[in-house]
Amino acid sequence: MTKLKLYTYPHPVLKKKAEPVEAVDDDIRQLLDDMLETMYADAGVGLAAPQVGVSKRILVIDYEQPEKGGPGRPRYFVNPEIIWVSDERIVGSEGCLSVPGQHADVERYAAVKVRYLDYDGCPKEIMADDFLAIVLQHEIDHLDGILYIDRISRLKREMLLKKMRKEEKARRSEEE
Ligand code: NI
Repeated sequence: MTKLKLYTYPHPVLKKKAEPVEAVDDDIRQLLDDMLETMYADAGVGLAAPQVGVSKRILVIDYEQPEKGGPGRPRYFVNPEIIWVSDERIVGSEGCLSVPGQHADVERYAAVKVRYLDYDGCPKEIMADDFLAIVLQHEIDHLDGILYIDRISRLKREMLLKKMRKEEKARRSEEE
C-alpha cells in the first residue's frame, strides 16, 4: 500500500463532480487500499477519491480504529448513491482532511439508505444512522464537489478559513 498525496482547500479537484466507476477491477482495489492507508496515516475516519486528486466516485470509511491511525473495520464504497433520507435531522461536529485543523457543526439527515458497489464490485445497500450516516453524507458530498464548509453560514465559513490560513502561516514560519 502507498500513502497518497492529500489535496486541500482550495484545490480545484475538490470542487469537481467525480465520475462514476465503470468496473471494480484491480486498479480500483489498489486505489481503495492506498486511500485507506492515506486516511490512517492522517488519522481520518473517511476519505473520498477527489481528496487524493482522483475524480472518481469512490470512498473509504473506518471509524472503528482501535488506535487512531490503524485498521479497525474498513468499509469501501464505489458509486455510492443516497436512495432514501429520514425526515429527522442531526447536528454533529465535522472536520475534514482537506480543511486541516478545523471543525464546525453541520446539520445532516439523521439516517440515510445508500446503494453502492463493494470491494468485490457486488451491489449492496446499507441503512445508516448516527455517526455512519454523517460520515457517508460528508464523503458523498465530496464526490459532488461539496465540502462541509459549504454547508455552514457564510460568516462561519469565512471565520474558519481565516483561522485555517493563519494556522498554516504559523506552521510554515515554524518550519523555516
Ligand atoms: Ni472530508
